Amino acid sequence: MKRTALITGGSRGIGKAIVSILKKEEFTVLAPDRSELDLLNDESIAAYGRKIRNTRIDVLINNAGINAPQWIEEMTDENIVQTIQVNLIAPVKLIRAAVPGMKKRRWGRIINISSMFGVIARGKQALYVATKHGINGITKSLALELAPNNILVNSVCPGFTATDLVLRNAPDKIKSLERDIPIGRLADPREIAKLVRFLVSDENSYMTGSIVVIDGGYTCK
Ligand SMILES: NC(=O)c1ccc[n+]([C@@H]2O[C@H](COP(=O)([O-])OP(=O)(O)OC[C@H]3O[C@@H](n4cnc5c(N)ncnc54)[C@H](OP(=O)(O)O)[C@@H]3O)[C@@H](O)[C@H]2O)c1
Repeated sequence: MKRTALITGGSRGIGKAIVSILKKEEFTVLAPDRSELDLLNDESIAAYGRKIRNTRIDVLINNAGINAPQWIEEMTDENIVQTIQVNLIAPVKLIRAAVPGMKKRRWGRIINISSMFGVIARGKQALYVATKHGINGITKSLALELAPNNILVNSVCPGFTATDLVLRNAPDKIKSLERDIPIGRLADPREIAKLVRFLVSDENSYMTGSIVVIDGGYTCK
């Protein structure tokens, strides 16, 4: 049976790699762009939420995320609101819309793309760190709530990955990040996608509430 996966942020980076791998696995993939679903806009989320209540969604992947590092004294109100909105509020609202159908069919897989900064911290990134720790809490709580309905909820926590989010840094900065990674290089987005592919498949029948770190060894130090 062909399953349907909805993914946010499928236009670039890790999301694009997930879209590509799931299409190869014969999923029907819904990857709305910003004109269909703008996670900064509550009206847009509400409208999309109404739409997915009437659409078969077997797999939901909350992937889109933003990070605008600012020291605490310079942190703008706009950054506070927007980071929490995109990284935390929008994923919860999409899960809320997708769960009734999953419950009806007694099968569902929800993946929250968090970050290794959902388990450790980094200066100048309080908002990002807070939202990624927060989404991991949501994963664990919902895993408890939804396990009786055969809906498995997991977080994937990448380390530094070769996407715009990291590649926008100066080459010297990227080299210094790589020196800090035990494997000695950034992750390829396809390496993250392969993990997601397993977690959303029927092969995963027992993992739920897991906070899975995939970081080339970074958090071991
Ligand atoms: N790259 C890393 O090193 C890294 C490490 C750990 C965790 N992560 C997490 O992995 C996820 C994907 O990151 P990435 O590196 O692939 O990011 P990216 O290359 O910067 O891409 C971000 C994606 O999110 C979408 N997006 C951003 N704001 C949006 C909004 N308001 N409404 C709808 N879509 C929006 C973007 O859409 P547009 O194309 O329209 O802008 C884009 O598809 C994020 O949650 C990030 O926190 C990344």
